[in-house]
Amino acid sequence: RTLKRQMMCRRDIDSLSVPFLSIYESLIPPEEEKLKQKQLLGLLEKLVCKEWPMARLYLYGSCANSFGVSKSDIDVCLAIQEADMDKSKIIMKLADILQSDNLQNVQALTRARVPIVKLMDPVTGISCDICINNLLAVVNTKLLRDYANIDARLRQLAFIIKHWAKSRGVNETYHGTLSSYAYVLMCIHFLQQRRPAILPCLQGMEPTYSVTVDNVDCAFFDKVEKLGHFGRHNKETIAHLVWGFFYYWAYCHDYANSVISVRTGSTISKRDKDWTRRVGNDRHLICIEDPFEISHDLGRVVDKHSIKVLREEFERAADIMQYDPNPCVKLFEPY
Ligand code: GTP
Ligand code: MG
Repeated sequence: RTLKRQMMCRRDIDSLSVPFLSIYESLIPPEEEKLKQKQLLGLLEKLVCKEWPMARLYLYGSCANSFGVSKSDIDVCLAIQEADMDKSKIIMKLADILQSDNLQNVQALTRARVPIVKLMDPVTGISCDICINNLLAVVNTKLLRDYANIDARLRQLAFIIKHWAKSRGVNETYHGTLSSYAYVLMCIHFLQQRRPAILPCLQGMEPTYSVTVDNVDCAFFDKVEKLGHFGRHNKETIAHLVWGFFYYWAYCHDYANSVISVRTGSTISKRDKDWTRRVGNDRHLICIEDPFEISHDLGRVVDKHSIKVLREEFERAADIMQYDPNPCVKLFEPY
């Protein structure tokens, strides 16, 4: 497969950066939306603290990792120590507390893989999912945000990839395709691999931030402002990187043997992780190691049908980037 392809990209690729950047800009949430999110978080904090004065609320996911596009829902984590209450009881009680105020569609989903309370705030129009004590997600949110502050091209690339994945219907874990979180990790990995590298490996550096969460040691270098402009020696444009990203996943990644690992800044072998065969429901057909829960493969949701769909989408996108006269239109065509 790889050999058949010419490794060269089109000569006019860099001129495509202008339309890609304007797509990126159109997806950035306006300041006003960020304010509304804070306002809703403040309201939730007030209600929760009335019942549980020691509890804390944290934003996580795309509203806090800087990879959130305009009009996203917000993800909130309730940190609470209630030794004698299990998660579903806390969820029920939380739903009760929020129900009584002016919030709409308050639902307790106690049986989901991650139990949550869902709600909608009619004042700001924002929908929100609240989970309990999922502090690893709060820490990986910080890791992603710190990466985003190193080089502007990461946020641009991730916005474009997420927009592509949503338009093409391959951002649906329920249907065996990948989560937004997985796509952002794929982007970080890709930029760590460029030569010269555009991103460093923060977990491979002397830690300046270190916490233990659910028995997992999470340590990494987080003083990213001290890195200067780390990626300055690499002059690749956003259009070139979008092309390179799809080309990598279409024709270069070794699906049979490799795991991508942001934690190590490299790929590691499936054999070393014992991810060579199906275990339970985890098929390991595309392997993306979680940076902290290293036994967790974010590609586990992908099955033998959806892997085909995904790889065909990567090839389609790579070919559009290579040959289409107007790739910005075709790339995001609804499926
Ligand atoms: P959008 O909502 O699509 O804009 O993206 P998001 O960044 O909020 O991602 P998503 O809703 O997929 O996930 C929310 C957060 O959950 C991620 O940012 C991670 O911090 C955390 N998370 C941890 N493990 C997983 C996992 O296995 N799958 C997913 N989807 N999220 C995880
Ligand atoms: Mg989200």
